[in-house]
Amino acid sequence: VCRAAAGAERRGLSPSPRGTAGPPRAGAAPAAPDPRVLDSMLPYLTAYYGNPHSRTHAYGWESEAAMENARRQVANLIGADSREIIFTSGATESNNMAIKGVARFYKSRKKHIITTQTEHKCVLDSCRSLETEGFRITYLPVKKNGLIDLKELEAAFQPDTSLVSVMTVNNEIGVKQPIYDIGEICRARKVFFHTDAAQAIGKIPMDVNNMKIDLMSISGHKIYGPKGVGALYVRRRPRVRLEPLQSGGGQERGLRSGTVPTPLAVGLGAACEVAQHEMEYDHKRISQLAERLVTKIMSEVPDVWLWLNNILVDGFFFLFHILYVGCINLSFAYVEGESLLMALKDVALSSGRYVEFTESVELFGIGRFTTEEEVDYTVQKCIQHVKRLREMSPLWEMVQDGIDLKSIKWTQH
Ligand SMILES: *Cc1c(COP(=O)(O)O)cnc(C)c1O
Ligand SMILES: *[C@@H]1O[C@H](CO)[C@@H](O)[C@H](O)[C@H]1NC(C)=O
Repeated sequence: VCRAAAGAERRGLSPSPRGTAGPPRAGAAPAAPDPRVLDSMLPYLTAYYGNPHSRTHAYGWESEAAMENARRQVANLIGADSREIIFTSGATESNNMAIKGVARFYKSRKKHIITTQTEHKCVLDSCRSLETEGFRITYLPVKKNGLIDLKELEAAFQPDTSLVSVMTVNNEIGVKQPIYDIGEICRARKVFFHTDAAQAIGKIPMDVNNMKIDLMSISGHKIYGPKGVGALYVRRRPRVRLEPLQSGGGQERGLRSGTVPTPLAVGLGAACEVAQHEMEYDHKRISQLAERLVTKIMSEVPDVWLWLNNILVDGFFFLFHILYVGCINLSFAYVEGESLLMALKDVALSSGRYVEFTESVELFGIGRFTTEEEVDYTVQKCIQHVKRLREMSPLWEMVQDGIDLKSIKWTQH
């Protein structure tokens, strides 16, 4: 649940992609592909250079078989039939396809859609663009804990609601929406349920039938797969109809025209298979590493706060309620963000920025390939530099002398 997930190319946790200035970009980011994924793709980048849609020569046939195998691997991970999997260029396209596709197909009878205020930008923007086409959208607010209120969802239905779109796991906070209940509520009203599962796939078990999901978006690079590929699950029974976004050769059951890139589809399939086998193990390991990082830093340095998005959380909430903590956002009081960032540059990390001028925020990403040694090394460096920087800080000195900083009137120079 962090843009700085995984990757152990260097000592320490992997860095967030970071510009030279400005606040950190919100949202989760890609991890490096799993080596097993790359291995699966390689033959299709070189030897089997066929168009999967042309059956006339052997390479084309090989390529199609590989693609269908990948489709099965994706389907298996979510309890679907492989005929229900459409390859796309990523979760952005899948979300666009699902939301605009359903809205436009049923528009003669249904003009209302329900989503939440905390969806990924591509969902919100798809909804905004539908508003300009005359659709009505309800954007449900979330409670303090990031979850929607099911009563508000129930109250939001209108006679012409065609679709409910609620993400499974939030890309910024990591909380999981009550997907089973939402599926139940939608099915009872015969309204289709779409979920953006880009952050959930491979992290928690997903089953489209148990969860009564009708459409589900998946992204390759969020599950240690390649960038530029994803999938959309589209239920066959009861059948969900979509108006395709693209016109063309009618690939992917007519829903997504354009040649499917075989190596990318194969990579997505391999990533799904690895995820299926390692999900439980990954989840346990990453949670343990996150806990290790947080508790070790907090036990050594005072005045550190743990944030999940803009919510200050205590240890109990962190350990038991946050689904998947690949991203840890700690603030260190009385330390300048940029200084700490500079000091930790070689190891870990992070993105720093000022929150007022007595705090800094550091982000630590943990993923499948992060090791315990890397966490410990980062912790040790972090503690060392926070202590050093505080020793140089006049604010810290004042606090040590028992001065209440709030009582001081700062003058502008
Ligand atoms: C990353 C992400 C997307 C976009 O996925 P792409 O494959 O990069 O298009 C959509 N939704 C969520 C929740 C995401 O985390
Ligand atoms: C980290 O916490 C700070 C303080 O609330 C917040 O401003 C920032 O958006 C958070 N960043 C992430 C990625 O959660």
